[in-house]
Amino acid sequence: MDKVNAKKRQSKGASSRKEGASMKKLSLAIALACGTATAADEPTYTNGVADIINNNCVVCHQKGGIGPMTFENYEQVRPWAPLIQYKVASREMPPYSYDHGIGIQDLQGDWRLTQEDIDSVVNWVNAGAPYGDRDIVVQPPNLPDPNEWTFAADLGQPNLIIPSVPLDIPANGNDMWHKHIVDSGVTEDRCIKAIQVKPLGHAKAVVHHANSNLYIDGQTGGMLTEYAMGKWGELVPNEVCRTFPANAQVRWDIHMFPGGVGATAQGQMIENNVVEIGLWFHEKGFEPKYKQDLSLYRLGNQADIVIPPHGTYMTQGFHSFDHPVRIDSWQPHGHLRMNAASFEIFHPSTGRTEEISQVSKWSATWHHSHIFSPMSAPLVPAGSVLILKQWYDNTADNPNNPDPDMWVVGGSRTGDEMTHNWLAVTHLDDEEFDRLSAQRMLADANTD
Ligand code: HEC
Repeated sequence: MDKVNAKKRQSKGASSRKEGASMKKLSLAIALACGTATAADEPTYTNGVADIINNNCVVCHQKGGIGPMTFENYEQVRPWAPLIQYKVASREMPPYSYDHGIGIQDLQGDWRLTQEDIDSVVNWVNAGAPYGDRDIVVQPPNLPDPNEWTFAADLGQPNLIIPSVPLDIPANGNDMWHKHIVDSGVTEDRCIKAIQVKPLGHAKAVVHHANSNLYIDGQTGGMLTEYAMGKWGELVPNEVCRTFPANAQVRWDIHMFPGGVGATAQGQMIENNVVEIGLWFHEKGFEPKYKQDLSLYRLGNQADIVIPPHGTYMTQGFHSFDHPVRIDSWQPHGHLRMNAASFEIFHPSTGRTEEISQVSKWSATWHHSHIFSPMSAPLVPAGSVLILKQWYDNTADNPNNPDPDMWVVGGSRTGDEMTHNWLAVTHLDDEEFDRLSAQRMLADANTD
């Protein structure tokens, strides 16, 4: 089975490398033919760069957004060009840390720019960040209405809305966390079809991200979903039931920047700040083919974590199932010292270890659940072993480290460390596993 997963990846990697090489050849040919590069092939704001910024940055870097500056037009963008170049070239912006060239690259809700777009921005700034042809009309950013639910057009209004407890956010101050438990009012098990988290009104300028967990009989019962500005929500794959259990409560964990990061809400107090979860359920009586759960997988014992001052640390965990599964998403979790995570699968039948995902510049500022596209999500035979690793850096080289002189232990305070992963797992039987494997073989054969 690992062959099927690997094949998909190799063919992808090869084709993008080919594109890159032919692009280079093309621009070399133009440069040779003309003596020097002509103005026409230089990226300008109106000729490409505005589209890249409008489609990938303005959602946060707009009036009322969480970005510290606005990029809505050339006049706003131009002064920041060198910093934009740096942040784009280093892949720090858009903020989505996931390694290129390793494992599955086919993700849903992936904010990363293509190498081609990165090159355009870099070349544009090197050329002096020119405006370009005044006759070209720049298309305005196509931003969704922040007050409307993403899935409303297709699925209508949510079946259930669960609001957080309102909170007044001061005009200025340090980061704030709002953690509390609310009732859902759901009295029987339901199958989730889609889910989205949305801050109301002015809240969107100050809510950095919001996690929500299910809470059942006083215990964490799995992650519900998570919000960061720019996310449109999550659709559960076809034929799959992710259960919202009867009588579950929801535990909110909302991270806010009072006053906004700088662009807009500065100096403005926000009253009754509320974040809402919208849930779309399948009809009662829906008979799913598969069950999915979003569960926490620990990597060793958190209580064992002891990271010396100026030291490093690593944890790993292993999991296997007695039936085949499909892994639909992966989200590593740690705090300020954690700086990398990886996900591999060992197949005892072949002795091969398959790379699935790696994040080598992890930061607790942005929590991402990496959702594998349905045709790429790893299919795992019974007995294959998930290998989850996380690395910690308590030295001064770690830019997120508040104090390298401290001993760091396992715990839930921001200054402590954690070691776990969230995985969305769809449980299969042998027949379904074979059917899904065959489907992929066929799809691969058709694209070759
Ligand atoms: C999901 C929201 C989001 C998106 C999308 C986003 N940014 Fe940002 N950006 C932020 C936030 C929040 C900050 C400030 C905190 C930080 O640096 O992480 C920031 C900071 C920056 C900074 C300033 C860094 C500094 O050191 O002062 C630059 C430059 C920047 N972003 C450029 C971009 C560009 C260019 C894009 C698109 C290619 C982009 N951002 C996309 C949210 C976003």
